Amino acid sequence: MHALLALLLVTAAAQAGPGDVQRGRALVADRTQSLCLLCHALHGAGDANQGNLAPPLEASAARLDAQGMRDRIADMRRFNPATVMPPFRSTEGLRDVAPAWQGKPALTEQQLDDIVAYLGTLARP
Ligand code: HEC
Repeated sequence: MHALLALLLVTAAAQAGPGDVQRGRALVADRTQSLCLLCHALHGAGDANQGNLAPPLEASAARLDAQGMRDRIADMRRFNPATVMPPFRSTEGLRDVAPAWQGKPALTEQQLDDIVAYLGTLARP
């Protein structure tokens, strides 16, 4: 009985993973919250209106590991203080933030994990 329970727990933990690829895919395409495709191209997204202001996300996924993508999405200003990319996990140094968003990062840790998990799938051939 205990062995069965342990087996079930191990299986559940293996499936849970740090980030959810499907949720990440939906978030990247979401034009009300993440806005990634406003600036970035993502050819696999099948969205006709994609940005060309920022590197294509497939190219970044091929070049960066999960931590590298995570750090950049969380706060690109650490790498380029003059970036136009919003810091999705920071509320510091922002101007003209709508009252409803004040003090709240644009993405939760879980949402960031989900996006990184999805972008990780783009790096594979
Ligand atoms: C307002 C435009 C804008 C939005 C919205 C935006 N980005 Fe960016 N992003 C950029 C720009 C511009 C860069 C290039 C780096 C720089 O600014 O120095 C960049 C860089 C990056 C990088 C590093 C690229 C590399 O190859 O080094 C990643 C990863 C990234 N963005 C992911 C995202 C994700 C995921 C989202 C949505 C959650 C997003 N970005 C939303 C503009 C944007």
